[in-house]
Amino acid sequence: PSLEKDFLPLYYGWFLSKKSSENLRKTGQAFLDELGSLKVFKKESKYFLPAEDPKVKLDLTSYFAKRPPSVLHCTTKFTDFGKAMGADEYAQQEVVKASYGKAFTLTISALFLTTKTAGARVELSEQELLLWPGDVDKILPTDNLPKGSRAHITLGCASGIEPVQTGIDLLEFVKLEKAGTKGDEIEEIGGGKLQYFGNGMWMLLLSKKIEVKAIFSGYYG
Ligand code: A2P
Repeated sequence: PSLEKDFLPLYYGWFLSKKSSENLRKTGQAFLDELGSLKVFKKESKYFLPAEDPKVKLDLTSYFAKRPPSVLHCTTKFTDFGKAMGADEYAQQEVVKASYGKAFTLTISALFLTTKTAGARVELSEQELLLWPGDVDKILPTDNLPKGSRAHITLGCASGIEPVQTGIDLLEFVKLEKAGTKGDEIEEIGGGKLQYFGNGMWMLLLSKKIEVKAIFSGYYG
């Protein structure tokens, strides 16, 4: 029996270098600060406010108070110590074993925010897509989205929301894009073009994509 079969991590993914992680957190924070101060956002802030008290002042930083505790990461496969569907199949792939502990450069093309999560959208290279599982780019079994659609880095979650939600939220954006709902182009802000998809769904398409250094590895908790 192989060792790795008995010791699968909680999840596999790319773990950003400390410096890249710090920089991306700062970029995310700057996005929250700028978005929160925009008139267009304030006009639509009802989605982020309690219905019974819609007049309270919204502070996005405290709204997304649940932030990843250590370095930021981009999950490839959530294996749940081997209990998740497809965990063994994923772990046993040659490309997964060969890439373990290796350095990659991830490209971030956008930042997004919903009433539940804030995240960074990751654009995977051909080589990185080889490490991407075949079964995670859908919300409904009938969804047919490009491989890697879900690739993201969670920056923050609202109270009571688990980080798994960030990928689901990103898939919602991708589904809207695919349906031709391009998102109202609101305006050019600091880092790029701000799009609004309604229902408190905002996306900043970065005019200059961000490259981060990351190690492919497993997280054991
Ligand atoms: P991500 O933020 O990239 O979506 P937890 O702390 O809840 O155990 O989760 C650990 C990490 O694994 C989370 O950061 C989340 O990553 C990811 N994750 C948790 N549950 C799932 C799931 N069911 N499917 C995919 N990814 C998951």
